[in-house]
Amino acid sequence: MDNLNWGGKVNHRSKSRLIYIAVPAILCSVTALVIGMSRNVTATAGDARSVYNAKCASCHGRDGRASSRHSRHEKARDLTTAEWQDSVSDERIYNSISNGKGKMPGFKKKLSDGQIDELVNYVRRLRR
Ligand code: HEC
Repeated sequence: MDNLNWGGKVNHRSKSRLIYIAVPAILCSVTALVIGMSRNVTATAGDARSVYNAKCASCHGRDGRASSRHSRHEKARDLTTAEWQDSVSDERIYNSISNGKGKMPGFKKKLSDGQIDELVNYVRRLRR
């Protein structure tokens, strides 16, 4: 009898030990999943250079100077000059990218808010 009781206790203990292992293990994998997902999201939003090169460089040039024949034809703005950089707020740049300006199309349907935010930063870094 004693033996059986003891055995039962061991069984009970190992079951609760299993919970101590299983619960953190599940929590860990859920956390890893969430971190993995948010990394993916920031990787997309943070890739401003490739978004710029794909969507903006054709008119503004990869260096932002809008110096190509096509740029001049489109009358795209040189984004690198200190005068222009000093004259505009981040909000204005955001709105121009989002809604468009003159011959420039708006990008709010093609890009997420985060991507446009990143582009504002990117445009700031084009300053000569
Ligand atoms: C079809 C050509 C074209 C494309 C593509 C284009 N732009 Fe422009 N962009 C222009 C033109 C033209 C202007 C000048 C608009 C004006 O002042 O009338 C301009 C102006 C701007 C300005 C200045 C806006 C202001 O308020 O002074 C910014 C910033 C800008 N573009 C950023 C971008 C970014 C970032 C992209 C890519 C997401 C982009 N542009 C794509 C043609 C283009």
